[in-house]
Amino acid sequence: MRITLSVIKADIGGYVGHSESHPDVLAKADECMAKAKGDGLLIDYHVTKCGDDLQLIMVHQEGEESEKIHKLAWDTFIAGTDVAKKLKLYGAGQDLLSDAFSGNVKGMGPGVAEMEIEERKSEPVIIFMADKTSSGAWNMPLYKMFADPFNTIGLVIAPNMHTGFAFEVHDVKESKKITLNTPEEIYDLLVFIGAPSRYAVKAVHSRETEEIAAVSSTQRLSLIAGRYVGKDDPVCIVRTQAQFPAVGEVLEPFASPILVEGWMRGSHMGPLMPVSVPDSTPARFDGPPRVIGLGFQLSGGILIGPRDMFADKSFNLARHQANEMADMMRRHGPFEPHRLPLDEMEYTTMPQVAKKLEGRFIDLD
Ligand code: F6R
Ligand code: MG
Ligand code: MG
Repeated sequence: MRITLSVIKADIGGYVGHSESHPDVLAKADECMAKAKGDGLLIDYHVTKCGDDLQLIMVHQEGEESEKIHKLAWDTFIAGTDVAKKLKLYGAGQDLLSDAFSGNVKGMGPGVAEMEIEERKSEPVIIFMADKTSSGAWNMPLYKMFADPFNTIGLVIAPNMHTGFAFEVHDVKESKKITLNTPEEIYDLLVFIGAPSRYAVKAVHSRETEEIAAVSSTQRLSLIAGRYVGKDDPVCIVRTQAQFPAVGEVLEPFASPILVEGWMRGSHMGPLMPVSVPDSTPARFDGPPRVIGLGFQLSGGILIGPRDMFADKSFNLARHQANEMADMMRRHGPFEPHRLPLDEMEYTTMPQVAKKLEGRFIDLD
C-alpha cells in the first residue's frame, strides 16, 4: 500500500511566552484533523506539540506537496491561531508569514517533512521534533544513524545495510543541493554538514533499493522572512528496522547530547536535550533546546502509537549531561561560543550600536 506521511508544524502561539503550547490550541487542531479523517482526506493523524510548536502528523494517499493536505494544515493553523488570539497567547500566528494560502505551505512559515512510501510488511517509524533550534541540528544525528558504524553496527554486520546510504544535502543560503554517497564520500560529506547553519541534510536514501530512509524539514524561517521570526524548530521522519537502522540505532545519537544553535532569542548555542513530550517545556533561559521522538507502527496507514521514545529511563543520563552542558554554556553569558557568531544571530543591536559609535572608531594605521 502506498501512503504519504506528512509532518507539518508551526508555532502559532506560546503558553507562557515561548515555553509551551496551550491545550485548547491542540484540541482545536485535533478537531480539524478529526474532521479531515471523517471526510476521508486523512487515513489517520496524530496531533502533538514540542514546546511552543504545534505538530500535525498526517497519513494520507495524496502524495507529497499535496495542495489539499497543505491547505488542511494551513487552515488548521489559522483555526488554532484564532484560539491563540482569544487567549492572547504569546506570538499568536507568528509562523504564518502570509495572509493567504497559495497552494503549498512551503515558504509560508510552517516546517514540512513528507515521505511517500510503500508500507512494508511492518513499518516502524520515528518522528523527531525539536524546539529552539534549526534544521541543521539533525546533521550529526542523521550522520551517526546512517553512516557511523560506532553508532550503527548494522552498517557493518547487517547484509541489507552494508552498501550504505546516500545523503541529500541542501545549501540553505544558496538554495542548492548535492547528493553524497556513504561510506566512500564521508569526508566530503562532513566538510559540508559539519557547518549546520548553512548545510542541512534534507533526506537519506538506501543506496541498494533507493528507498527513502529519512527526511527532514530544512526551511530557514529567518531567510524566508528576511527578518527574525524565530528558529525553524525542525522535524525529521526516520524509517527503522530491517533495511534501515534499528530503533535503538536511530535513538542512540541523542544519548550523547550535542550543542546546537537556537537557544534564547535564536542567538545562542546550547545542548539538545532528549525529553518526553510532557517535558518539552523549554523554561531555563528559554531552553535548553529540546528534542522529542515519537515512535509509530504503520498499519494500512493507521498510526499505531505513539510511543514516547525519550521517556525511557536510559536517556536520564543524557538529560543530566545536557543540564551540565547548559550550565557550562550559560557561564559564557553574552560571549561566544554561547552567543552565536555575529552573522548567525537572529537578534542583534550591532548596526545601531556601530552607527552610534561610528565617529569614535579611530583607524589603527
Ligand atoms: C528562541 C525563542 C525565544 C525568544 C525570546 C524573545 O527561539 O523563541 O527565546 O526569542 O523569548 O521573544 P520575543 O522577541 O518574542 O519577546
Ligand atoms: Mg514561539
Ligand atoms: Mg518553537
